[in-house]
Amino acid sequence: MEAELLGPPEDLKGKDVLEIGAGAAQCSRWLTAQGARPVALDISHRQLQHALRIGGAFPLVCADAGALPFADASFDLACSAYGALPFVADPVQVLREVRRVLRPGGRFVFSVTHPIRWAFPDEPGPAGLSVSASYFDRTPYVEQDEEGRAVYVEHHRTVGDRVRDVVAAGFRLVDLVEPEWPAWNSSEWGGWSPLRGNLIPGTAIFVCVRD
Ligand SMILES: C[S@@+](CC[C@H](N)C(=O)[O-])C[C@H]1O[C@@H](n2cnc3c(N)ncnc32)[C@H](O)[C@@H]1O
Repeated sequence: MEAELLGPPEDLKGKDVLEIGAGAAQCSRWLTAQGARPVALDISHRQLQHALRIGGAFPLVCADAGALPFADASFDLACSAYGALPFVADPVQVLREVRRVLRPGGRFVFSVTHPIRWAFPDEPGPAGLSVSASYFDRTPYVEQDEEGRAVYVEHHRTVGDRVRDVVAAGFRLVDLVEPEWPAWNSSEWGGWSPLRGNLIPGTAIFVCVRD
């Protein structure tokens, strides 16, 4: 939002914006406050129930980002904060779908956990600073329930893989932003901390244009 990667906030007024993997739809709520017309999409009914409970004057759509239920060229912009892309085996299909529903000149700005983090344990302290896995190992991370069913799956792509995915889907990549840890933030949660944040990037943001 502060980085203005979707464009200056004053230009968002009246724009049709699709939020992919919206979860509780924080981005759509902010976009509404700027005068945009967001649609928040998520595959999880439960996540959308959180969005509904928090509230907001925008539509919520329960659907798979790999098969978007919208006509071609329906949106001016699309965005995603850690949504959908890290969790699908075929990210190019999602990117193709997003490109399809964007109008010519439209932007898709999406963030993922920075791929370098795959090589480090998810620890906020010093243990999180030593490489413990191969950056090049694309074996998905899977959590299973007691019956052996996958309940959480995360797919690793290297930075190069993500660039190639964006290009293969027909987008032009105009920026890859690696935000630095803000000096004011002294919080620790999960694998996030000032110690790690000051040394290795936590997030990668891809700015893509549909020409
Ligand atoms: C890490 S959460 C991010 C949620 C929110 N954007 C945020 O910043 O808090 C990832 C979201 O992507 C959604 N998701 C995963 N796979 C998806 C898919 N194939 N299509 C649409 N949404 C998906 C999940 O249900 C989840 O809400």
